[in-house]
Amino acid sequence: MSKTYRITLLPGDGIGPEIMAQARRVLDTLGARFGFSCAYAEALLGGAAIDATGDPFPEETRQLVADCDAVLLAAIGGPKWDTTDPDKPRPEQGLLGLRKALGAYANLRPVRIFDALRGASPLKPQRLEGVNLLVVRELIGGLYFGARERFYDEENAGAGGVPGQRAYDTLEYREYEIERIARVAFEQARARRGKLHSVDKANVIETSRLWREIVHRVAHDYPEIELIDMLVDNTAMQLINDPAQFDVIVTENMFGDILSDEASMLTGSLGMLASASLGDGVALYEPIHGSAPDIAGRDIANPLAMLLSCELMLRSSLNEPAAADALSNVISNILAQGWRTADIADAATPTDKIVGTRAMGDLIVAVL
Ligand code: IPM
Ligand code: MG
Repeated sequence: MSKTYRITLLPGDGIGPEIMAQARRVLDTLGARFGFSCAYAEALLGGAAIDATGDPFPEETRQLVADCDAVLLAAIGGPKWDTTDPDKPRPEQGLLGLRKALGAYANLRPVRIFDALRGASPLKPQRLEGVNLLVVRELIGGLYFGARERFYDEENAGAGGVPGQRAYDTLEYREYEIERIARVAFEQARARRGKLHSVDKANVIETSRLWREIVHRVAHDYPEIELIDMLVDNTAMQLINDPAQFDVIVTENMFGDILSDEASMLTGSLGMLASASLGDGVALYEPIHGSAPDIAGRDIANPLAMLLSCELMLRSSLNEPAAADALSNVISNILAQGWRTADIADAATPTDKIVGTRAMGDLIVAVL
């Protein structure tokens, strides 16, 4: 009896539909080879959902993502919906609403260097020696979800007595939110090389001091893990200076957003980083990159972060490790043969062969 997995697809905006099309082909090909099939339900999220319904996370999508085996998201956002008006809907609200609705508090972003791509990173190849790290980002707390407001401030009227505008965002963490993400990070470190960097700004902010205390309390349950506290500014520098020192990095939502984009450049491109968002409900898999509106519809986007997100889904939610291994091996082999999308091509390497989004999918499907 072949298994059927129910997967909700959220292609989103910009390059989203193009890379999602490749994910679907690759999953179907893997299913044929490894004896499973995928039943897809496609739903709207982000800008596409705003255009169709006025709501970036419509009710129909809310229901579909709650009732499936896994959610696969490509990317959302674009200049069409860019606004600084706090009363207008934004695509990003759809993504944040989705993460929150799924209770997906743990965002795992593996930074893995493919041998063939050493030349694609802006860092010298010798700095990349031994680099293999995982960013564990808290995903449904902190500044992204705290109280915020923009208002006219009568008290601080500017020149001529005209009230000036004022805005605030709130960075708040509760003990249990820190504890549960710390546990995920310690478990990951235990399954990897036993080292955990907890990243904060405890020299300045209160949530970071609480963060540090709770992480150290959880550490008592993991005596075999080496725990290192590191300030976020120092971490930003160390990621460039000596990235091989890291195994697992755990940090709050905003710091994790920034550090993971930085860390992606170790692999050569933002287009290479996948992520898994795990928590209380159905898990969500998405590349860390955005919708790249500047290259949308041109068949040049890199589908590999999307496909590596499928690999994470096959491993963690669908329990198909053989299919996940096969996908990961094929991607390594295709890269080793010199096939590149434009973002990971290296002008100095004449053996690099540049292909588009669909052709990259063709190559992977053909080898599978
Ligand atoms: C990411 C993205 C999102 C985030 C944006 C699109 C809201 O940058 O997944 O890293 O900030 O979390
Ligand atoms: Mg980001």
